[in-house]
Amino acid sequence: MSDNKPTLNMEQLASLCKRRGFIFQSSELYGGINGFWDYGPLGVELKRNIKDVWWQDVVQRRDDVVGLDASIIMHPRIWEASGHLEGFSDPMIDCKTCKGRFRADQLEGTACPQKPSKRVGACGGELTEPRQFNLMFKTFVGPVQDDSSTAYLRPETAQGIFAQFDNVLSVSRQKVPFGIAQIGKAFRNEINPRNYTFRSREFEQMELEFFIKPGTDEEWHTYWVKARMDWYTRIGIASEHLSQYVYGPDELAHYASACVDIMYAFPFGVQELEGVAARGNYDLSRHSEFSGKKLEYFDQESNERFIPHVVEPSAGVDRIALAVLCEAYALEWIPKEGTDGERQPTRAGEKVPDGYEERTVLRFAPCVAPIKAAIFPLLKNRPELVKVAQDLYSELKQHYPVFYDQTGAIGRRYRRQDEAGTPFGITVDFETLDNQTVTWRDRDTMSQERIPIGEVAIRLATALQ
Ligand code: GAP
Repeated sequence: MSDNKPTLNMEQLASLCKRRGFIFQSSELYGGINGFWDYGPLGVELKRNIKDVWWQDVVQRRDDVVGLDASIIMHPRIWEASGHLEGFSDPMIDCKTCKGRFRADQLEGTACPQKPSKRVGACGGELTEPRQFNLMFKTFVGPVQDDSSTAYLRPETAQGIFAQFDNVLSVSRQKVPFGIAQIGKAFRNEINPRNYTFRSREFEQMELEFFIKPGTDEEWHTYWVKARMDWYTRIGIASEHLSQYVYGPDELAHYASACVDIMYAFPFGVQELEGVAARGNYDLSRHSEFSGKKLEYFDQESNERFIPHVVEPSAGVDRIALAVLCEAYALEWIPKEGTDGERQPTRAGEKVPDGYEERTVLRFAPCVAPIKAAIFPLLKNRPELVKVAQDLYSELKQHYPVFYDQTGAIGRRYRRQDEAGTPFGITVDFETLDNQTVTWRDRDTMSQERIPIGEVAIRLATALQ
């Protein structure tokens, strides 16, 4: 079947995400709060799966990476050393007419809130000169609110890793090259949160700081760009929707030798999912300078002491979840029950052909799908079918998130699971009672086959590898 991504409409996707419990607006009850999102029952599973697959691949299946869970609020000197206090800002302008506040470097694509057909600046509003606006959220630690108690919600997880480099090195018995990985919340007071969850004020990052010997930067940077590109195809993103943005020498920070952004073709444009940067020894050197403590590595083989360089793959969980949702979302015309015909992608603006109905399906890769399989008795008023289905459900539930549903016509139950992105449907029917087989339905092809009930668990385990 051909790809129907060009027809993907973000409003339709957002409406499905709300209806099926993937993503809700934060504080909706009170009118919402801009730039913050909540993940519902299916969304939280999707995000957990993305984080679990990352953790397995980047930490658990490797010998040279260990994990860390640092605090969100850290000593404020960390943000002086990292340069965030001085330089982590975006240029902002105010409109004196509508009182709106906008990113000065994004005026081109920003509509005037009062005259949405015009962009900010072209609407006749009076704009201020750009001013730098620091993106870190400030708070106070303890009962006194003054300069000495000011602290910040971390704008990235990376600095917690640099600040704990020495402790982790001394307890983990790792040798350079090795990495420290962390998954956690980050906060940025973005001037214009936009594109659904893409640019939020609270989000999660998955960051790896991979410490290397100076001089091996290029080799390790190339290695991690490839490893990270491959990882996206593992979670179901088609390689033709991925691309790389390679920074030119004049775009790199003064301490960096290379940076590549991994980009995804979202419906609102090609945008960054992850940055992979070769940052030299900038971060450890700065923390050494500001803390007065040496952050060095002694290489026993070469008898050398040096500050390790670092390659940093830094990804955003929420952006990846959004890309996975965009990638998975499809509308199809399918023949009605009892009608012959082929499935076909919905053609936007056209009527559903006679004998067909439309289905919405989320084609998640099984490893990230929130529910792995749904178990159905054909009829809810036949206890002998219900018993077999419930026993199978109880068995599978010990190992995987599975769903049991006995309500409504079987076709409608399949449709509900298609919308939730459940890859497999298992139905217990009268033939099951005769020969201990069930139907195994594939979400994407909608094909059904009979398999022995005793093979369901192994079939599922294989599909989820
Ligand atoms: N330590 C490096 C660092 O934080 P970044 O490019 O600023 O680099 C890394 O952020 C990733 O974090 C981005 O590629 C993106 O996926 C995610 N991210 C950054 N700002 C975000 C925001 N406002 N909303 C959602 N995700 C964001």
